[in-house]
Amino acid sequence: MIASAPPAIADELYRRLANSHSPYSGVQVACAIETPDGRIHWGVNVENAAYPQGLCAEASAISTAVTEGDRAIARVYVASSLPGHIWPCGGCRQKIWEFSEAGCEIVSVDEHGGAERHPIEALLPLGFRLPARR
Ligand code: THU
Repeated sequence: MIASAPPAIADELYRRLANSHSPYSGVQVACAIETPDGRIHWGVNVENAAYPQGLCAEASAISTAVTEGDRAIARVYVASSLPGHIWPCGGCRQKIWEFSEAGCEIVSVDEHGGAERHPIEALLPLGFRLPARR
């Protein structure tokens, strides 16, 4: 399905690409996490000279959401400095799954504000869940 992203979200994602710390890949990524009641938490990718220590934008945004007391994800928006649409890496799909509400969708926003969306279940079939111990 192709549509437009909300302009305020698209503009802010692309504005925040400048905050990405990505000197090694040169790829800037920004993410917005939307809670069921409409709060938005932002994140960008944060790379490190020790490459595996780098953080994806989605992980960064999820950390912000949880830190701010939000543990439910209704929608995830992602954008990057690459042309066209990007989709979360496998590890971030699992990180989103941990907090996803039923119907949670991932919306990839391109440089023209165009949006493609898929439910998290389509990007991560049979995701892993553990019952909480307390
Ligand atoms: N990256 C993200 O931040 N999110 C994704 O969904 C895919 C990749 C980052 C990791 C790295 O900093 C750069 O993009 C290139 O892989």
